[in-house]
Parts: sequence; C-alpha cells; structure tokens
Amino acid sequence: MSTIFVGIINSEGQLWRKQRHYIRQRRLGVSGHSGASNLMPRNSTQRMNECIQHEASTFISTINRDFTGKSLDPAVLLNCAVANIICSLIMSTRFHHNDKAFQRFMFLFDEGFRIFMSTGYATFIYFLEWLPGVRTKCDKLERNREEMVAFVREIIDEHKATVDLEGESRDLIDAYLQKMAKMTKEESREFFEGFDPEKQLEQVVLDLFSAGVETSKTTLLWAIVYMLHNPEEMRKIQEELLEKVGPNRMPNMDDRDALVYTRAALYEVMRRSSVVPLGTTHATTRDIEFEGKTIPKNTHIIPLLYGVHMSPDVWDQPKEFRPSRFLSDDGKSVVRPADFMPFGAGHRMCLGDQLAERELFLFFASFLHAYDFAVPEGNSTFRNYES
Ligand code: HEM
Repeated sequence: MSTIFVGIINSEGQLWRKQRHYIRQRRLGVSGHSGASNLMPRNSTQRMNECIQHEASTFISTINRDFTGKSLDPAVLLNCAVANIICSLIMSTRFHHNDKAFQRFMFLFDEGFRIFMSTGYATFIYFLEWLPGVRTKCDKLERNREEMVAFVREIIDEHKATVDLEGESRDLIDAYLQKMAKMTKEESREFFEGFDPEKQLEQVVLDLFSAGVETSKTTLLWAIVYMLHNPEEMRKIQEELLEKVGPNRMPNMDDRDALVYTRAALYEVMRRSSVVPLGTTHATTRDIEFEGKTIPKNTHIIPLLYGVHMSPDVWDQPKEFRPSRFLSDDGKSVVRPADFMPFGAGHRMCLGDQLAERELFLFFASFLHAYDFAVPEGNSTFRNYES
C-alpha cells in the first residue's frame, strides 16, 4: 500500500529501534504512573497486575450476572476485557462491551485481519495490489484505517487538553506528549526520524491494539477448546486451584509461583495453538550460510513458529495436548524449553510478552477456578478439531 504508516510493527532502522526502546522503557505506559487515587505510589508491575485483575474479575462477574443459564459467545466479552487492559495502560480509559463506538473500533480490527488474510501473496508482492479484487480490499483497509485513526485521534486530543506536561504521566499517550513537548526540533527529528510525531503516536496506539487484542483473545478461546477436549487435564488444574487458592477468593498474580500445573497447561495451550503461526518479517543484515545455502544480505525472513512448536524432532507426539512437557522431572516447577517461542525470538520479538503472559495466566486460572467447561449433552456439533 502506498501510505507510510510508521508506528512500530511496520517501522525499521533507527525509528523502530528508538520507539521500541521507549515503549519498553515506559512499560507500555505503566511506568511513571503514581496511581491517581492512592497516596502511596505504586510500582509499574503492581499497576499492571491490578489492571489485569480488575478486568478478569469484571469478566467473571459480568458472566455470572448477565449470562447465568443463557448461552454466551465468550469471544465478545473476552475481546472487550483484553482490549480494556490495553486501553487502561495506554490511554487510562476503559469501555463497556456494549459501547457502540468501541464495538465498531474492535470490529474494524477484526475485519482488517480477515481482509488482510484474504489478500494472500499481494501483501508481499507490491504490484499485485493493483489487481482489481485486491485493489478493492486495499481500498477498504485504508478506509477502515482512517476510521480507526479518528477514534484514536479523539482520545489523543482529550489527553492534549488535560495532560500535565511537567507532572507524572497517566499512561503511554501522556508519556509521548510530554516527551514531544520537551524535545527541541532537532531532538524530535532524531527521535521520530523526520516523521510527524503525532502520526507516529496514532500508529503506535493502533499497533499495540492490533498486536495485543486478537492474539490474547484467541489464545484464551483455544484454552477453552483444549479444556473441552481434555477434561482430565482440566480436573488436574482445578484440583491445583482448589488446593492452592481455595474456593473463597479468585486467583491473583501472587499465586503464579504456586500454580505450577496451571502454568504448564497454559504453555501447552500456547504451543499447541500457536496463535501467531508466522512471526513478523525479519531481514538478514549480512550474508548468512544456513544448512549449505547462502541467504544474501537484506533477504526477508519470516519465522515459522508453528513449525518449531509442532516439530517431532523437538516435541514427543507434538499433536498431543500434554502439559507435563513444561514440568521439571519432579513436577514441582515449570520449565520453558528454548524451542517454545510463542512470542518469537530475537530483537524483534513481542513487545507485550510480559503483559500477555500475566493476562493469559490470570484469565485462564480465573476461568477454571470459576467454571467447569463441558459440551452440552446431545450436542452434535462438537467435533474433533484435528479432523
Ligand atoms: C498471546 C498473546 C501474544 C502473542 C502470542 C504474541 C506474539 C507475537 C509474535 C510472535 C510477534 C512477532 C515476533 C517476531 O517476529 O519475532 C509479536 C510482535 C509484537 N507484539 Fe505480540 N503477542 C501477544 C500479545 C501482545 C500484546 C499484549 C502486545 C502489546 C500490548 C503485543 C505487542 C507486540 C508488538 C508491538 C509487536 C511488534 C514488535 C516489533 O516489531 O518490534 N503483543 N507478538
């Protein structure tokens, strides 16, 4: 597509390096936040945990209040819950799952993914975008993007009206605005590599949503599917939850070390589902010799993470759902083999890995603490997902 979107996912070189470093340093916006309603400043990990905890308990109480005895598509509520975690961190706001503007914003991401997938090779071979069918899809993607930018723009403008340029930042948008205000023209040109800083901020926000919501939601939906198909594993997790957390409170982040089997099962969900089967496009910075072949400098390389996770050379019976792969021999701790790479590898690996691991853990543990998953009796639509 002809428009240059900058941001983080589609940027490279110094622009990518500086933005990535800055977002990491600000911990997606949590760092620098003192917790407006608290007298004691909270550290960034604590705030991230509180934010995830809040969304997980809102998710469970919404189901209990509004859906007991009714059928429910968990995707809608989950989408809202994981999106709200990102909203809280980067823009200090959250939305109700029935909020029309927010629903539309989320729908546009969803539609974007679907259209993008259907463009196939056209995404990689530029002149193909001018083929009639492909052009229509690209035009639609651009129109959708304009609508998403308008949504984000409104939130940035609200921040501009209320930010304390000298004080602590409330979130990532504040942090960027404060940084922009403090920089000289020369520093700004260097930090944003000559791109418009506000356009860069818009795209960073969109990138964090597009990278963080679909991935987390889909992993959690797969977790439900794997529990439905492996009730004996579900029981083991629930026994651990009952023993280590007990029935009278929800699990929280402090339970992580004790919930060994739960975490191993979650890793197995992540390995088996590989929700990001292909990583982003990397490139060689020099000629590389690999298995007798030369890969020239500047070649695009797309890591096949699904292939790594399903390789029989690495994993015994890779199609089997077996959480014990991630347990130490004595079963007392979680192990993380080098070939487990749901977040990719190298300098370009996922920027939200810590947030994602925390939210996946808490939602997964909360699900199984609160509910049993079972196929309704007589249901004829339940099939083996391998077939
Ligand atoms: C289950 C959850 C998630 C999975 C499985 C996942 C996986 C990945 C993978 C495989 C990549 C590409 C890495 C590579 O090519 O080497 C990636 C990139 C990225 N992810 Fe995630 N991700 C998840 C959640 C998140 C969250 C919650 C955020 C932020 C809010 C996020 C932000 C990003 C960004 C910004 C990139 C691009 C990094 C760059 O180009 O430098 N991800 N993710």
